Order: sequence, then structure tokens, then C-alpha cells
Amino acid sequence: MNPYGGSESRRQVLPDGIRIKDDVLPPGSIIGGDVYTIHHNPEIFPDPFRFQPERWIVGNGVTAEDVKAREGAVFTFSYGVRSCPVKGLARMELAVTMARLIFQYDFRSVPGDTEGQGNHEMGWGGGRQKTQFQVWDYRKW
Ligand code: HEM
Repeated sequence: MNPYGGSESRRQVLPDGIRIKDDVLPPGSIIGGDVYTIHHNPEIFPDPFRFQPERWIVGNGVTAEDVKAREGAVFTFSYGVRSCPVKGLARMELAVTMARLIFQYDFRSVPGDTEGQGNHEMGWGGGRQKTQFQVWDYRKW
């Protein structure tokens, strides 16, 4: 629901150019895969702004194909040779940290606190989502 950053990781097309489906991109073009858009594609993640961990578990209308498609669309650590080389460690650290926190503490929202919530005055799609913690990327929208 919240990417590590809102923008794409940029890449430059090499001297031979590149074809992506029907588009031919000339050498030197700056391109990137945008994690926020992929993770909010409603064809893969229906109702994408809703926190719904059950979407990862087969049953109750979720098929094994659904889960497979979702797992294939997870772009958190990027893909290819320049993807995060430490994804295994990062996942393990997150799992251990979250398990420890949940084991040791109870959590609730601070009553009336709206820190981090989006609102209608914010410019772009995700900025308007109340359920999405707002982060700034290297460029402001
Ligand atoms: C949840 C935690 C993490 C996330 C979501 C994450 C995500 C990413 C992503 C998306 C990239 C590719 C950036 C790009 O395409 O330009 C990347 C690269 C990289 N990450 Fe991570 N990362 C995480 C944790 C870590 C940790 C803990 C380390 C080191 C201990 C690490 C080291 C690196 C390095 C060295 C690269 C550059 C690889 C290269 O350019 O060849 N990452 N990470």
C-alpha cells in the first residue's frame, strides 16, 4: 500500500534502443517502472487502497491464480540485475521486527490523530487517500 518511494527507479536506454510491447524507445531515453502504479493496479489488486491481507490467502473468493498474479506483480525490491541484492535479508529483518513488536505490544491509533493521512487538498491520487501514510519522494507532486 505504501511504496518505498512514489517515483520510478530510472534507467537509460542503451545505444541499440529497446522495444517494449508496441513501443520502440530510442537510445538515451529515460524510462522506469513505477512501483506505486503497479501495486495499485485494480486488475491485479482489486480495491487497491483497502488494507486487505486476505487478498494473499487462497479461499473466500481468492484463487491460487489470483495469489500467483499478485506475487508476480510485487515490485518492492525492483527486478533484474540492479534489483535490491539484499531483499532476503530485508524481508527477514522486517519479519523478525514485526513479529517481535506484535508479540510484545498492543497497538491502536491515537484517537483523533490524522498525522500522515491524505486529504483532498493534496495534489495527486495517493495524496487523497486517507488510509495511505503520506511520504515525500525526491520530487514533490
Ligand atoms: C525493505 C527494505 C528494502 C527495500 C524495499 C529495498 C528496495 C530496493 C530497490 C527497489 C532497489 C533498486 C533501486 C533501483 O532500481 O534504482 C534496491 C537496491 C539496492 N539495495 Fe535495497 N531495499 C531494502 C533494503 C536494503 C538493505 C537492508 C540493504 C543493505 C543492507 C540494501 C541494499 C541495496 C543495494 C546495495 C542496492 C543497489 C543494487 C545495485 O544498484 O546494483 N537494500 N533496494
